[in-house]
Formats: sequence, C-alpha cells, structure tokens
Amino acid sequence: PLVSMNEFLPKAKANKFAVGQFNMNNLEFAQAIMEAAIQEKSPFIYGVSEGAIKYMGLEFTVAIAKAAAEKSGLPIALHLDHGSSFEVAMQCIRAGFSSVMFDGSHYTLEENIRLTKEVVKAAHAMGVSVEGELGTIGGVEDDIAVDEAHAALAKPEEAIRFYEETGVDCLAIAVGTAHGMYKGEPKIHYDIIEEVAKAVPVPIVLHGGSGVPDDAIQQSIKAGVGKINVNTENQVACTDAIREVLNKDANVYDPRKYLTPARNAMIEVVRSKIKLFGSSNQA
Ligand code: G3H
Ligand code: ZN
Repeated sequence: PLVSMNEFLPKAKANKFAVGQFNMNNLEFAQAIMEAAIQEKSPFIYGVSEGAIKYMGLEFTVAIAKAAAEKSGLPIALHLDHGSSFEVAMQCIRAGFSSVMFDGSHYTLEENIRLTKEVVKAAHAMGVSVEGELGTIGGVEDDIAVDEAHAALAKPEEAIRFYEETGVDCLAIAVGTAHGMYKGEPKIHYDIIEEVAKAVPVPIVLHGGSGVPDDAIQQSIKAGVGKINVNTENQVACTDAIREVLNKDANVYDPRKYLTPARNAMIEVVRSKIKLFGSSNQA
C-alpha cells in the first residue's frame, strides 16, 4: 500500500540521505520511477501537481501509484505537489493520496501558517503527511539580481516559527534553487538550510532539483535536506529520446517505438539521482 512520508523521512534525516520526489506526468514516468527504485531498493515519492492530476485524472493517478506500490513492495508515498488549497488537498486524500503539500508561500506568513495548520490537522487525522513551503522559490528565467534573489529566500527564524506552529512533516524553504533548468549554476544558501535543519526535527525539502550540480546536492543533504524534488530532468530525457526516434524515422507510428526508449532514459535519470541522494538500499 501507499505510505505516508513519515515511513522514511525520519530515517533520512537521522542518517543524512534524501528521498527523491519524482514527478509523475503519465504512465511511462510512473513505470520508469518505480523500475529505477526497484533496481536501487529505494523508497520514493510520486509527486503529482494539480496540472498533472488534471492531465491523468485523479482515479488513474491513484490507481497507477497503488499498482506500483503493490508490484514493487517498496515504501512509496503518493504526494500532491504544490497543492493550492485545503479543498484540493482533501480531494486528493479522499481519492487515496498518502501525502500532500500545501503551498501557501505566496500568502503572508500569518495566513500561510493558518492555512497550513488546517491542512495538517485534517491530514494527520487520516495518517497523511504534509509538506509546507516558505519563501518564494525562484523562477527560471534570466539572471535574477542578487537583491531580488535574497528577497525571495526563506528567513530562518520565520521557517522555524512556521514549523513550530504548523507541525508539518517536512519543510520546503527557498534557498536559491529554481524550478526548471538553470542557465547558470544555482547559488544554494547552505547556511539557511543548516540553521533551520538544526532547529527543527523534520527534514528540509529542496525543490527545483533538476540541473543542480552533484556536489551542491551532496552539500545540501549534509546541511539537512532530506527530500529532493526532480521533474524537469525526466521531462527532458523523455522528450529527447522521443525526438531522437522520430528524427531518425519519419515512418514510426507505434507509440511504443518511442515511449520505450523514453522510459529507459528516465530509468537512468532516476537511478542516478537515487544513488546521488544516498537512498539506495534504504527501502
Ligand atoms: O515541485 C517540483 C519540483 O520542485 C521540480 O523541480 O522541475 O526543477 O526538477 P524541477
Ligand atoms: Zn516545486
């Protein structure tokens, strides 16, 4: 069965490894992620955005994740990614999600705390884990001026207060990564991760894990990151593989002819991330 993130996050924090959240966009993503995790004997999190739920349908999303949990025997959490409201979170939980993120980062701190608390109260009553977010995780376009980048970073004392008042199971804080691929190298603020991670018992979540150099990932884990989200790198690997097949042969019409290499490419991406995150053999 699908499990809450509390089945593996406390161990990740204690033993200094990170569990990957790999976003599910369709069946091939789900299969590739599961296959990589089986090969590595690793727990993992299927992240599903509201857009992806709309695309796949809520029932299919849950059915696919449940099938993966049954087939693999691995601890798998099915997690709403960047949930925008209490209602969406409850819809997902009712449908069978084992974990939800409530992203109230665009609200004031007070409002974010108030709304996140409501989600935590309802979710915990059903054994479902919750991720909260603080600070604004950067956009991917162009060079953000240092001042602006700093304005978006999470403030440690606010993050600690946010944890204490909400009781979330893990905490996403803006520390310099961005969603999507990077033009240059991200400047990760390890000091912020460390300060917050020391003060709270739950792991820090690193969003925008695609394109972050391996050594930066390792340093982030050392500082207190215990969950890392990856989506774009799988999307790129998938699409590159499909493009290669179609470019080579204009007569291909069987989707399996390009989806199989796409799935294989994603297996490789996820395996390398799992190894990098140190979660191999932690299932
Ligand atoms: O919540 C999703 C992740 O933060 C994905 O970020 O697409 O940059 O890997 P990414
Ligand atoms: Zn994210």
